[in-house]
Amino acid sequence: MTDNEDVGANPTIESEAELAFEGALRPKSLDEFVGQQKVRGQLQLLLKAAAMQNRTADHILLAGPPGLGKTTLAMIVAHESNRPLRMSSGPAIQHAGDLAAVLSSLLPGEVLFIDEIHRMARSAEEMLYLAMEDFRIDIMVGKGAGATSIPLDIAPFTLVGATTRSGLLPNPLRDRFGFTAHLEFYDEPELEQVLVRAAVMLDLDIDRTAIAEIAGRCRGTPRIANRLLRRVRDYALVNHIPASRDAVRAALELYDVDERGLDRLDRAVMQTVLTRFDGGPVGLSTLAVSVGEEAETVESVVEPFLVRIGLLSRTPRGRVATRAAWEHFGMAERNSTLFSDEL
Ligand SMILES: Nc1ncnc2c1ncn2[C@@H]1O[C@H](COP(=O)(O)OP(=O)(O)O)[C@@H](O)[C@H]1O
Ligand SMILES: [Mg+2]
Repeated sequence: MTDNEDVGANPTIESEAELAFEGALRPKSLDEFVGQQKVRGQLQLLLKAAAMQNRTADHILLAGPPGLGKTTLAMIVAHESNRPLRMSSGPAIQHAGDLAAVLSSLLPGEVLFIDEIHRMARSAEEMLYLAMEDFRIDIMVGKGAGATSIPLDIAPFTLVGATTRSGLLPNPLRDRFGFTAHLEFYDEPELEQVLVRAAVMLDLDIDRTAIAEIAGRCRGTPRIANRLLRRVRDYALVNHIPASRDAVRAALELYDVDERGLDRLDRAVMQTVLTRFDGGPVGLSTLAVSVGEEAETVESVVEPFLVRIGLLSRTPRGRVATRAAWEHFGMAERNSTLFSDEL
């Protein structure tokens, strides 16, 4: 197994098989979309109002850690409003011209999805402001003193942006979204629903206790739930055993996913804070270097879950392990004075 196939480690990593499976599994409508009740209600209202007035819906920003359903929701927005969908992404827009090409070819009412919108080039951001507000762009012609800009009307569209790091978006861009949805980690009953649905699609006979066990160990993330389910299916198949709770335990042990769903990278981060920095505080960049990861990955992929389950806290002075973290890793708490003034 290579690092890239690590089952838990990075919810952003998608193998080809996984992409195909995800595509098949994606709920097509808001009704099929599990959980995120608040966001679903908000989106429903927004889309319905737009439909009643026969106009394009307001621009929508979807924010949250990887694997929680941002791409799925973007597709649902297009599907529910019966509009075509154009997909692009921040890294694909490295020049204003890349964005101009997309914007000027939009069909009226089209939904434009820009994934990882925080990674779009700065020069394109400015073009996007105008496009979002007035459905117009300025095309620059020529260079230097003789350069002129030619205004161009574009078709009205709905922008759906997705980001794992809404904090990185410049304010003028953030302000132009009519609605921002913050996706939350899923609770266990919701994850069980996701898993039951996936098991049906995989034609996998799996019992309730096994489903519950996976739901408790998938980092609150549907993408990981589905991924673990496939590993359990493999394990049961290869070992000629039923997909029971024991099979789940054995498979997840094989893939280094612990009882709370922490994977290798989660554990590396926690162990670094605990042992190398005596529980912290330690700055993000130091922490990232110590575990050999990008700061962005540690911040947007690893930390949100560790914070959410109460093992790590982010303080102005740096990252600090909580008391629960010392317990989870079976270590005696050090630095307890520091720890208590941090909290
Ligand atoms: N609310 C949900 N209900 C059912 N399945 C979901 C839900 N959210 C995500 N999934 C599944 O998880 C996988 C990842 O979702 P995706 O939309 O690609 O996440 P993101 O774009 O936020 O990284 C998809 O296979 C999708 O079917
Ligand atoms: Mg996505």
